[in-house]
Amino acid sequence: MENVRQQIEALRAELNQHNYNYYVLSQPTISDYEFDMKMHELQNLEMAHPELFDPNSPTVRVGSDVTKEFRQVAHRYPMLSLGNTYSEGDVADFYERVRKGLSEDFEIVCELKYDGTSISLTYEDGKLVQAVTRGDGEKGDDVTANVRTIRSIPLSLQGNYPPLFEVRGEILMPWSVFEQLNKEREAQEEALFANPRNAASGTIKLQDSKEVAKRKLDAYLYYLLGEELPNDVHSQNMEAIRSWGFKVSDAMKVCKTLPEIFDFIKYWDVERKKLPVATDGIVLKVNSLRQQQELGFTAKSPRWAIAYKFQAERACTRLNEVTYQVGRTGAVTPVANLEPVLLAGTVVKRASLHNADIINGLDLHVGDMVYVEKGGEIIPKIVGVNTDMRNSSLGEKVEFIKVCPECGTPLVRVEGEAAHYCPNESGCPTLRKGKIEHFVCRKAMNINMGSETVDLLYEKGMLKSSADLYELKHSDLASLERWGDKSASNLVTSIADSVKVPFDRVLFALGIRYVGATVAKKLAAAMGSIEKLEQATFDELVAIDEIGDVIANSVLQFFRKEENRELVARLKAYGLQFQNSEEEQEVKGDALAGLSIIISGTFERHSRDELKQLIEQYGGKNVSSISSKTDYLLAGANIGPAKLEKAQKLNVKFLTESEFEQMIGL
Ligand code: IVH
Repeated sequence: MENVRQQIEALRAELNQHNYNYYVLSQPTISDYEFDMKMHELQNLEMAHPELFDPNSPTVRVGSDVTKEFRQVAHRYPMLSLGNTYSEGDVADFYERVRKGLSEDFEIVCELKYDGTSISLTYEDGKLVQAVTRGDGEKGDDVTANVRTIRSIPLSLQGNYPPLFEVRGEILMPWSVFEQLNKEREAQEEALFANPRNAASGTIKLQDSKEVAKRKLDAYLYYLLGEELPNDVHSQNMEAIRSWGFKVSDAMKVCKTLPEIFDFIKYWDVERKKLPVATDGIVLKVNSLRQQQELGFTAKSPRWAIAYKFQAERACTRLNEVTYQVGRTGAVTPVANLEPVLLAGTVVKRASLHNADIINGLDLHVGDMVYVEKGGEIIPKIVGVNTDMRNSSLGEKVEFIKVCPECGTPLVRVEGEAAHYCPNESGCPTLRKGKIEHFVCRKAMNINMGSETVDLLYEKGMLKSSADLYELKHSDLASLERWGDKSASNLVTSIADSVKVPFDRVLFALGIRYVGATVAKKLAAAMGSIEKLEQATFDELVAIDEIGDVIANSVLQFFRKEENRELVARLKAYGLQFQNSEEEQEVKGDALAGLSIIISGTFERHSRDELKQLIEQYGGKNVSSISSKTDYLLAGANIGPAKLEKAQKLNVKFLTESEFEQMIGL
């Protein structure tokens, strides 16, 4: 046993070092293959010896699919933001304020302002113990499990670090990863991320850390906090944390004069475009911590630091026309068609106008000369009109369309939402095709057909709804222009295979509004079959974990429509899976017969969905809120304090994951 422990520890230390060489220093010393082999060896040893589990083992980098609710954690030191400035004049004002406030010599550290999502990391005895998002600045979400998957964040430190400290920085999605992710999302008909910042903050809040691990996030650290810091000077502290294993930007300069600061700004405004991650400005900080303390904070931000934001690149061009696109779900997006203009190295012909409010706010007229900006976003946007260039021949005012450009149905606007929708779900060709495209997509039925094929078969009248897919004949397809025997066979086989797709994905494929892949999984697990879901009441739906009013109403509305019930009936007749598999429903015993059990927190060996399934398989009942009738609280880590208190008050018995396993003889 001692031998295994040593072996595991040696492998962990070795893999940590290789991670550091690769992700922080960018200087790997072994091949990817050798690395993977060692990782597998460690994974196997850890699997065989669960008692030697360590949350900071390098194997946690690959994440786990155990879902978790994020626990809210108060920040030890509030996470303030910085005051923004946009001109050299503002920077000079800041410099002057500092000079007056200090009445002694001072240094300013210039750093890049990384454009991602900020994170606060706590280390105890050299181990990462907590990672919290900024949240509202006072408290944020505990995203430790997700952050552990970021390879450039050390889980164990090297060198001479204090026993307890906090370090803050920015989590980023590199441009290359962002572009690849959006490509994949486009292929799967998923909404694209507007910029790497949104992609990074969306990723760090994912429920499934395995997914996070795949997204290859990066992180730069730029602020050290704690009671015992190695130095009284910020730039030296940054060198210290670099030596402990953190990734600290090389673009950092200690400046003594204002011209030196301006040089830094000018240099990096150009050079930053070559960096692998997004930056949107420069941060200026007073270097001495004693002087920082002397200057102090305003209610919102420190007086000792400021952000200088780079000008987004901007061009002026003519607005030729506004056209409208109808999306798969019926949302109508206005698009500005522009006289082509060069902006940040690419020719821009179209820009997003987002929604009716934006158009009205800009008071747009056809023929206007408009300003187009490309900030962090990939799609340029119109930010203003050059009204000086308007002449007597002012073009027509741009008014948001009233009817769907595809089917002529009057558009509707859901209260509280900015977008206009075409409500004609059963008649609008774009929506009908959109529904079919969603039905066949990889995460749903995984039928191998692209949108051109859906278009073609729709135009030919062979495919009016998803159910028609199962009527398609090889001979009809093979006789289509440019189709042959092979492509027809491939499609027919792919459709035939789809009848094996499990219930939760079929449910997702139906395209019920607000029922994405994750919600579909929850509904399928809780209800077990489409019949139960169809008959469920509002109260039964909202009692399911994470299902709220909006989803519940959307489900009810879906089944109220005759055409949807008909669609389900047809799909059922073709043999699609409309209930959980036998394995999921299988009765395995009666150890929990008659017991009401509530699950809370996160678990080591099972996901919450697995535990729910086990409760049902052993005759128990899953409940979603605690009452005096609840027999047990199956408690994992990080249970919310309110739930805990209520359970104690009502004398509900607590069960650990292992006790639960013992009860059912696992
Ligand atoms: S220092 C109290 N340094 O910009 C000052 N922030 O509004 C703490 N940021 O929330 C922040 N690069 O997310 C600092 N080199 C850098 C930064 C940086 C990006 C972000 C950070 C912060 C926001 C400021």
